[in-house]
Amino acid sequence: MSRRPYLVDLTVFAADYAWIYDFKLTEVLTNGFLDRIPDDWRKCLQNLSSGDLTSLPDGKTKEDWPPSMQTFIHQAVALARRPKHEQSPLELPSRLRRGVTPKKIHEVQQMTHYVGRLCRERTIRNVIDVGAGLGYLGQALHHHYGLRVLGFESEETRCRRASAREESVLSETRSSVRTIEFELGESEANRIDFERVLFEFVGGGGGGDEPVCLVGLHCCGDLTPLVLSRFVDCCPKGSTLVCVGCCYHRMSRRSADDGGFLHFPLSSELETIARESRPTWTMSEYGLRLAAQETKARWKRQTAADHSNHAKHVVYRATLEAALRHTETQATKKFNKLTSKKDFSSFDVYLQSALNRLELDDDVKADIDRTAKSLYEPASFACVEGVTALQFLFQPLLEALVTFDRVAYLLEREIEADVVALFDDAISPRNLAIVGHKSI
Ligand SMILES: C[S@@+](CC[C@H](N)C(=O)[O-])C[C@H]1O[C@@H](n2cnc3c(N)ncnc32)[C@H](O)[C@@H]1O
Repeated sequence: MSRRPYLVDLTVFAADYAWIYDFKLTEVLTNGFLDRIPDDWRKCLQNLSSGDLTSLPDGKTKEDWPPSMQTFIHQAVALARRPKHEQSPLELPSRLRRGVTPKKIHEVQQMTHYVGRLCRERTIRNVIDVGAGLGYLGQALHHHYGLRVLGFESEETRCRRASAREESVLSETRSSVRTIEFELGESEANRIDFERVLFEFVGGGGGGDEPVCLVGLHCCGDLTPLVLSRFVDCCPKGSTLVCVGCCYHRMSRRSADDGGFLHFPLSSELETIARESRPTWTMSEYGLRLAAQETKARWKRQTAADHSNHAKHVVYRATLEAALRHTETQATKKFNKLTSKKDFSSFDVYLQSALNRLELDDDVKADIDRTAKSLYEPASFACVEGVTALQFLFQPLLEALVTFDRVAYLLEREIEADVVALFDDAISPRNLAIVGHKSI
């Protein structure tokens, strides 16, 4: 199916079933969510076995489940068309692995191989790495493919650490890899600055309009849309883009009193589709949060004990939050930090530990304690894990809306673009790269 009908289907599905993801799980007691679940779905979700939960996001249903729920599950699976990841053979030498987590090593190895090969095929010598962090990617691209790399990093301490690392892990050719302090921003002045630095960097290697490869590994929030717009506006013809986003929910709002996001939808295509097919729906922060969460690869590793633990965490916190609302208590949520097994040994123990963390008068605490105990109803929450399984079904669809919207933005500007799975999502769930190429 081509992109436009796919985006239409995703939008309609995301809008029609928004009740499944459009809320905070720990507010299920107070936001009327339980009433929105159809009765037959709730009964079914409450009785799912651990095996049912594990296989549900793969589309495995049972005949005695409500037909409308089976239809939902099958439609969601059919719409989840995540590209497949192909493992690369590249291995970082031990000095480039120093101090790097196994997850980051996987990401850097896979992305280096992908970007390095593209640069070779397209005879690109210069790479700009935006949000370079400690410069791991640039160091690997230089070591394995001899590329010149300029990293842009907004945090001064990270820049210093990146420079120190370049000194220690690269040999005499280290002057070909540099990280500078530079924060990409929305203003025109910032765009001009970016263009100037890019021109000076490429000009230093010969020819100001020589193509570059613009890369970003886990460009969070607004950074990916900014990288895309710099690619469109500032990179010469023949340039290539490989950018992996993350933390979609950290994107800026259009304004304080407007629920919409500044960079979503990014494309005119998705904006038109949403306006024409589901005019009252907008992507919420909860939707973007779910898009940026673990994929079903992680869910499938959960044991029965993990499920019961997760449900307990959600139910205990939701009950306490409901008690705070009922008693109209304004309190800092210091209990969010409670994580130890001991604190979750029973609801009474959890409640006591949470109340100990709240700076409130004793009579207010006693009121919250009474209210929470009266609200605590484990049976009504037996469907928490079932609902979480439904959310795992939704995760790839919401992420596809974000990534294909970004692809559509580039295509609208006559740039070849696609989505590629660079990493194994069981190791690194934010594994989708927007890949673009400006023809000559
Ligand atoms: C999730 S980290 C990834 C770091 C690195 N690419 C890696 O994978 O190890 C994102 C980095 O982008 C930087 N960053 C965030 N916003 C930025 C901006 N507007 N301009 C430049 N760097 C930015 C952050 O300081 C952070 O180091």
